[in-house]
Amino acid sequence: MADWTIQKLLNWITDYFTQKGVDSPRLSAEMLLGYVLNLKRIELYTNFDKPVDAADLARLREYVKRAAEHEPVAYLVGHTEFYSLEIDVSPAVLIPRPDTEVLVENAVGFLRQQGGRRFVCDLCTGSGCVAVAIAKNHPDCKIIATDVSSDALEIAAANVAKHGLEDRIELRQGHFFEPLLPYLDKQRFDLIVVNPPYVSDSEYAGLDRNVRDYEPSSALLAGQDGLDAYRQIIPQASEHLTDDGVLMLEIGYEQAEAVSRLLAETGDFSPPQVKKDTASRDRVVIGLKKKQVCV
Ligand SMILES: C[S@@+](CC[C@H](N)C(=O)[O-])C[C@H]1O[C@@H](n2cnc3c(N)ncnc32)[C@H](O)[C@@H]1O
Repeated sequence: MADWTIQKLLNWITDYFTQKGVDSPRLSAEMLLGYVLNLKRIELYTNFDKPVDAADLARLREYVKRAAEHEPVAYLVGHTEFYSLEIDVSPAVLIPRPDTEVLVENAVGFLRQQGGRRFVCDLCTGSGCVAVAIAKNHPDCKIIATDVSSDALEIAAANVAKHGLEDRIELRQGHFFEPLLPYLDKQRFDLIVVNPPYVSDSEYAGLDRNVRDYEPSSALLAGQDGLDAYRQIIPQASEHLTDDGVLMLEIGYEQAEAVSRLLAETGDFSPPQVKKDTASRDRVVIGLKKKQVCV
């Protein structure tokens, strides 16, 4: 039988994934093949005619089978790309999404505009992708990142170490702002970023299998209308912000109005701005804390 070369395998797996409805079939095929052969994606193309040996073929077959059953490729290979950075993942954390890059982009833009050394909080950090991407792109900031899940924080710690950010990102475990309360007198943030769980019960039932069956439900589910986390986070945010501090919240694309209303109800924020993702859907709500007027 003719050899299975890298080129033949890539084409075959891509077609197979397409038939099976796997997301991004070519990219998924490249990631799996690169992982099994310990080659970067670009190196697959410079070794196109290289035959793959029987042991690697056997390992590859196993992974291809699991991916075709909709196990996320990022979990199979243990990492993904976010904001052009390699981020480690495990089934304990949500796989970072391109939509969340809008949150990072706005955070980095704000920090650059402010200048000087800034203090940032990343609530619900999960894999730590948001904190790592902000720290990598704005060297003059210190970040505290929190999550309720200790398993998620283990992955976040691995990502902080992988990118050499141990002296700039501190991780703390607990329910939303709770791990910050003991430091409230001393530590106020110039910026709080949050990508909280925001999927409603009814939306959850309709999610793709690769999300519903494999990603942690605790990272996604937020009550009947998907707003439970915002209802807890927003009223507490102001006391953790400096006088002209900013709160940036990732939202589900139909939640801008409801989340803006929650911000308005606190009376602590100026009318919010809503930023869109690359598909022109509402994705981030930004609230600027109103200066307290002393009378
Ligand atoms: C949507 S994921 C976001 C993860 C990461 N920041 C990202 O953008 O990919 C939400 C995260 O919130 C965490 N979480 C859920 N409930 C929480 C709570 N009550 N307090 C703190 N973190 C919570 C989950 O463990 C999960 O890591």
